[in-house]
Order: sequence, then structure tokens, then C-alpha cells
Amino acid sequence: MPRSFARKHAFPAGFVWGVATSSFQIEGAAAADGKGPSIWDDFCRRPGTIADGSSGDVACDHYHRLEQDLDLLASLGVDAYRFSVSWPRVQPLGQGAWNPQGVGFYDRLVDGLLARGIQPYLTLNHWDLPSALQARGGWAERDTVQRFVDYACGIDHRLGDRLATITTHNEPWVIATMGHETGVFAPGLRDRATAMQVSHHLLLSHGLALRALRAQGSKARLGIVLNLAPAHPATDSEADRTKARLEDGLLVRWYADALFKGAYPIDVLAHLGADAPHMRPGDMQAITEPMDFLGINYYTRLMASASDPFDAGANGYDVTDMGWEIYPQGLTELLLRMHRDYAVPPMYVKENGAAFKDVLVDGRVHDEQRRNYIASHIAAVADALRQGVPMAGYMVWSLLDNFEWASGYAKRFGIVHVDYATQARTLKDSALWYRDFLRLQRARRASVSAALAAE
Ligand code: FCB
Repeated sequence: MPRSFARKHAFPAGFVWGVATSSFQIEGAAAADGKGPSIWDDFCRRPGTIADGSSGDVACDHYHRLEQDLDLLASLGVDAYRFSVSWPRVQPLGQGAWNPQGVGFYDRLVDGLLARGIQPYLTLNHWDLPSALQARGGWAERDTVQRFVDYACGIDHRLGDRLATITTHNEPWVIATMGHETGVFAPGLRDRATAMQVSHHLLLSHGLALRALRAQGSKARLGIVLNLAPAHPATDSEADRTKARLEDGLLVRWYADALFKGAYPIDVLAHLGADAPHMRPGDMQAITEPMDFLGINYYTRLMASASDPFDAGANGYDVTDMGWEIYPQGLTELLLRMHRDYAVPPMYVKENGAAFKDVLVDGRVHDEQRRNYIASHIAAVADALRQGVPMAGYMVWSLLDNFEWASGYAKRFGIVHVDYATQARTLKDSALWYRDFLRLQRARRASVSAALAAE
């Protein structure tokens, strides 16, 4: 199957294949070696927040199994590994003193990747804000913007010479909306005005961090990762189409218009009324600081229904264990749209993958559904490429089964199975397929460059 699949879908020579993780979801070692607490450590301790009552205290124990996990990455043959830095591990209070042991871990991670020929793709903020900053108001407080800029410069100063890319934030919509409006994620606040202020501060801190990183001569390519989806009306009714337009405004245009056009969409501002964020002169200009890449996380589309606040319009479709509809053509649609509507830099799919109820039998996990999910979404990227969209890479979420936020450990997204009792890692069939597919991609690349050299 990988052979005919690889033959069918062509990717440019420099296209980057990878897998992704995040610090809080895999590292564990929550209080080891001087690490400070994060808002996710605190959130997990609050009763009722995590479906299985679990926490990130141990997770995949990646912090103590670094070398083994690096070898696992190498065995897959990926070009790149996307990981995030736990801010409170390297700067326990979110400002002031740096923790040399925490920095040492990422030093070893980056060097270990390079030694194995894997490009480090670093994310600065995959949600685990230092608790000490939350105590001062967190992302709702403008001062956190400057703290983040200092943190970004500190990381670049320590690791930047060895990084391929630096991503400022992972999924600002999720931090703002799920963390501060619906409250299902840390820090668990429920206020729309606060959420929109947070979204503005995240975008502002992104732009100002890019500016500061460039001023200090960062060698990494710089960008952000957005969670985007096409918003389709559940029916053709006027009400559903209006709802779809608003959801598109809140999820896609709010972020993309700000980043690429320097203004929030007027219809969304009107909808928000008094909940719109406070801005200062110069903010929007800072937010449009040019990026070297745009990262997109894609899992499913949105189905907007005016009669159903939960948009449960996906009934009757194939869904993953998260209940998310499997809709690969939405990825092609989204990439074409971003290319058409915005002056986007080269785009990466920085996360794409699926949770299914896996069973480990005799050392194998036959996760055919996940393999099909990944293959169909890779085909969707190839389709966008064929239609002229500049795509730079694709990364599977996730390398390992891990702590899936409010869902705890019950939802497994890994292409590698983790037995949490023993911490044993087992490559699922999807990982074996991805490994073989990447091997064929490399072989094709090598034969193309040999042919060019012979010309
Ligand atoms: C994304 C997150 C990632 C993971 C996947 C399933 O929203 O960025 O950490 O939880 O969803």
C-alpha cells in the first residue's frame, strides 16, 4: 500500500515530513529538577476537570526516557520533530531566573535530534503557562506579553543556533476560547470579554516576539500555528449559513485577518460589541510582523447549526474516538482558501491525526482506521499542492499516545502505543506504514537528485 500510494502522490524535494508532540502531554516530571508549576498542573488538580481524573505528573515519562524516544523518532525516518518547551521548566516563575537543569533537557533534546539528522521544530507556547504568571492575571494581563517576548528571546539565545523553526503559539483560539470562555481547558475561566482580550494579547505577543527575535539575529524560521477548519452550514437555511459565517469569523478570520491584513473582521467586532478586546495604537501593526511560515492544525470541519448550540451536525458521518467527523477534503478546501484569501507564507500542516480505540494484541496494534485517516489527509495535502498551494510539510499528531488534555489518557492519538503501566512503546501499524511511506519518499528524492546530477 505505501508503494502505490507514494507513487500516486508527488511531493516537492524539500517537503518536510514529521511528527509532533507537546511538553505537558508527554514529559511528566512535573516537579523535577526545579520545574515550576504550570496552569495545566493546577487545572488537573481541580476536581471534575479531567475526564479520568488524571494529570500530567508522569504522562509518557518522556523527560526520563529522552534517548529512547529520540531513537524511536530516528527509527521512523522523519525529517523533523515538532516539540514544545515547557516555559515553567526553563523559567519557573515565567520571568527572572532561568533553570539550568530545565534548559539542559532541551539542549540534549535538540542536540540528540541533530545527531540523528532530524530538524528541531520548536514551539514556545503549547499552553503550559507558568502558574506564577497566571497569579498575575495570565494572558488576560498585558504584562504577560512582555514576559513572553523575554522568554522567546531567552530560548532563542540558548537554543536558536540549532533550531529549524520557532513557533510562537500553538492554537491561540483554543487558549483564548476553551481556556477563558467555555472554561473546559486551563485556566478554566468563563468570560467572553476575557477570552477576546487573551486572543489579542496572544497575537500581540506573537508579533512582538518575532520582531525581538529578528532584532537579536535569530537564525530560526519564525511563525505561528493556528487550528483552522472550514465552517459549513448544517443545512442550507439562512440561519445556518449566518451561523457558519460567524464561526468562520471567530475561528479563521479573527486570527488570519489580524495576522495578514492587520485588522479584526468588522462583522465579528460588531457581534462581540462590548466584549471586543482593548487595543493600543501600534498593536495591529505589530501583529502583522511578517512570518516565514504558517502552521495549520487540521482535524475536522465545523458544522454550524443555528438550532443546536453544540453544532452536533456531524451525525451519520464517520467519526473518530473524539467524535470528530473524518473529512479529509476539508483540508484541501482550507489550504486553497488560505492561499486564495491571504498572502500566506509557505504553509505546514503542523498537526493532523486521530484518536481511535486501539487494542494491543501480541505486540501489534492494527489501527487501520488511523492509517487510513493519515493517508487520506496526506492525499488532501497532495491535492492542494497540485492546485498550486505552496506547502512546506506535514506532521502527524502524535508520535506517542499521551495526555489528551481534558480527556485524560483515554483518547489515544499516537502512532506509537504507550502502555502507561510499564511505559513500553510499541509501533502501531500506522507508524509502520508512515515509516515505509517516508522511506519511499526519500528514495524518490534520492533518485530525482541523482537524475539531476547526471544531466
Ligand atoms: C490539538 C492540540 C494537541 C492535541 C490535538 C489532538 O488541538 O494542539 O495538543 O491535543 O489537538
